[in-house]
Amino acid sequence: MSGPSAEEVVGAKRALAKALRVVVLTGAGVSAESGVPTFRGAGGLWKQFRAEDLATPIAFGRDPRLVWEWYGWRRAEVGRCRPNPAHLALARWMLSRAGVTLVSQNVDDLHERAAREVALDAEASARALPIKLHGSLFHDRCARCNHRVAGGAVDATGLETLPHCAECGGLMRPDVVWFGEMLPARAVEAAFAAAADAEACLVIGTTGAVYPAAGVAHAAKASGASVVIVDPGPTELDGIADVRLRGAAGDIVPRILG
Ligand code: OAD
Repeated sequence: MSGPSAEEVVGAKRALAKALRVVVLTGAGVSAESGVPTFRGAGGLWKQFRAEDLATPIAFGRDPRLVWEWYGWRRAEVGRCRPNPAHLALARWMLSRAGVTLVSQNVDDLHERAAREVALDAEASARALPIKLHGSLFHDRCARCNHRVAGGAVDATGLETLPHCAECGGLMRPDVVWFGEMLPARAVEAAFAAAADAEACLVIGTTGAVYPAAGVAHAAKASGASVVIVDPGPTELDGIADVRLRGAAGDIVPRILG
């Protein structure tokens, strides 16, 4: 695969630098070089596991132990991953200029960890945090009363060892959005407001197959934003790209934001 031409890189750089307001939409591909598996494509999670057995409220109702076993495993695996140059470049860029809104479909915490790594203090790092459309792999939510807590290691040997709610005693579930569930309303509202206002939209590492998340890029385009896409493979958003950079996020993102 040949990388983008110098003209394409300069074109993307210009479009992003001159925009007063930018919305960035990231997907699993931005974390691929950190070792977090993507969902679709060769080696993707949905090629190895059946989403309907693991990532739906019905699956959780049927077999919460199995669902927790899978999320506990992912939590441990992703917990060992580190932000890569794309996360770090994005965080530095957000701290160096105003007007950038980061919207992520990812349930990993690598944007947050990058923000903490590059910022001098917690107050500054808040400026580089993502709006998370699909929830967080590192939080638990009570399936009964919705009480949320930071999640830890999961012992899924039996129903009784699974995390239970400190408030009501109900069974906790991973605080992620499953198939057939609504996205968090405030996150969706904030993401689409940023898209409607954006002069440029940077899309990184998503097939653009899942809605409403992919709609963020369409909404930005419809409002007149220039769309820049970074992805080594084809995406369903390619048709709306003004600049299409084929390659790995860890290589290209630092070059276009530097
Ligand atoms: P996908 O797995 O559908 O797409 C990953 C994208 O990343 C593909 O377009 C790859 O070509 C690209 N990619 C792979 N390696 C890359 C790299 N090094 N740099 C940049 N891009 C790379 O993941 P998403 O589009 O994020 O939903 O999937 C969307 C949603 O579907 C996920 O949030 C998840 C899943 O079901 C929920 O969990 C609710």
